[in-house]
Amino acid sequence: MACEIDHVGIAVCSLDESLRFYQETLGMPVSGREIVEAEQVAVAMLPAGSGPGASRIELLEATGESSRIAKFVEKRGPGLHHIALRVDDLAAAVERLQNSGAKLLNEPRRGAGGHIYVFVHPSSTGGVLLELIQK
Ligand code: CO
Repeated sequence: MACEIDHVGIAVCSLDESLRFYQETLGMPVSGREIVEAEQVAVAMLPAGSGPGASRIELLEATGESSRIAKFVEKRGPGLHHIALRVDDLAAAVERLQNSGAKLLNEPRRGAGGHIYVFVHPSSTGGVLLELIQK
C-alpha cells in the first residue's frame, strides 16, 4: 500500500494570525480557505511544493466550542494536530486496519475538498492522530 504525506494539520487559535507567519513571513501560497460546518472548523491549505500532488500545511481554527479543534487547543494549546497520509484505496486500507485491530475514530466520510477520509486513534499509530485520505 503506497502512502504519501498529503498534509500536516496544525491547530491554531487564529487563522489570520497564523497566516501572517506562514503566508507573509514564510511566503507560502494559500490554495484555499473554507469552513467545514460538520467539523466546526475553518481551514486554510498551503501547498508545500509544486504540482497537484504537493504536500500541504493545513491550518485549523475552531468555529464553535464543540469543535474537536477547540477541545484540542483548550487541553494542549495550539500545535501539531494530525498527519494525513494519502492512499489509493481507502476502503482497502480501512479493511486492513480493522483486521489488524487498529482503532478508527470514524466511518469513511467526505470532507474538505470532497475527498473521503478516516481518522486513526493515536494509540494505534505511535502517538500521532493519523488521517487517511483518498482523493
Ligand atoms: Co486533515
